[in-house]
Amino acid sequence: MKLLRNNDDLAVYLSSLSGAMGLVPTMGYLHPGHGALLKAARAQNQAVLMTIFVNPTQFNEADDFQSYPRDEARDLAMVESLGVDAVWMPEVDAIYPPGDTFCLHEKNHNTRMEGIHRPGHFYGVATVVLKLCLLAKPQRIYMGEKDYQQLQLVRDLVASFFLPIEVIEVPTQREVSGLAMSSRNVRLTKKQRKQAAKIYQALCEQPNVNATRQVLNDLGFRVDYVEEYQGRRYVAAWLGRVRLIDNVALDRR
Ligand code: PAF
Repeated sequence: MKLLRNNDDLAVYLSSLSGAMGLVPTMGYLHPGHGALLKAARAQNQAVLMTIFVNPTQFNEADDFQSYPRDEARDLAMVESLGVDAVWMPEVDAIYPPGDTFCLHEKNHNTRMEGIHRPGHFYGVATVVLKLCLLAKPQRIYMGEKDYQQLQLVRDLVASFFLPIEVIEVPTQREVSGLAMSSRNVRLTKKQRKQAAKIYQALCEQPNVNATRQVLNDLGFRVDYVEEYQGRRYVAAWLGRVRLIDNVALDRR
């Protein structure tokens, strides 16, 4: 496995490729959800490039950026065992060169759910995904259903900027309890982790948005939103200082 630290390393790696390459963008602190993205990428491409980059521009709160879990040694050991060809871990300057004053503005996703509750978040996501795609030039990019709004944002980004990239959607990986796998789960206590699984239960079992919100309120969550949009029910809720999101397709409940 090749470890690419800067854009020159990336260019050398890209020049060595002969077939299709699949890009798996991540912010690290890997878990089996990332493993599923890699597995899908492995099956469809000759080469798989994973990025690990905690993108500063998508955090709307400095505290969230500081406390986002990071463990390079753990991540590298994990990717080694998962059959990744190369891991690209750029420094911030490699993605946002000094003097870079650009940021993508998005007018649809930004006006609902995550877009409202995390102001500027999708601008940062769109900007970094565009930059990663322009630098790495993958044939396919792998996105998880867990961040379904983000997945749609990336689909629209690829269409708007005529990127010759196929966006591949990979199902949410869940713990036995139903809790959607997420890097942020590591910040939950054992008790909170058990409680967090109730989000999926509520999404699946409650008849409508109001009932879902009520159940989560009663269980002690601080709910940001429960919404249905284009055939999916979405929730974002806090347990203590940890913010959790999940969604299900209404016809798959
Ligand atoms: O989902 C994530 O981990 C991030 O939002 C992404 C897509 C890697 C962009 O930084």
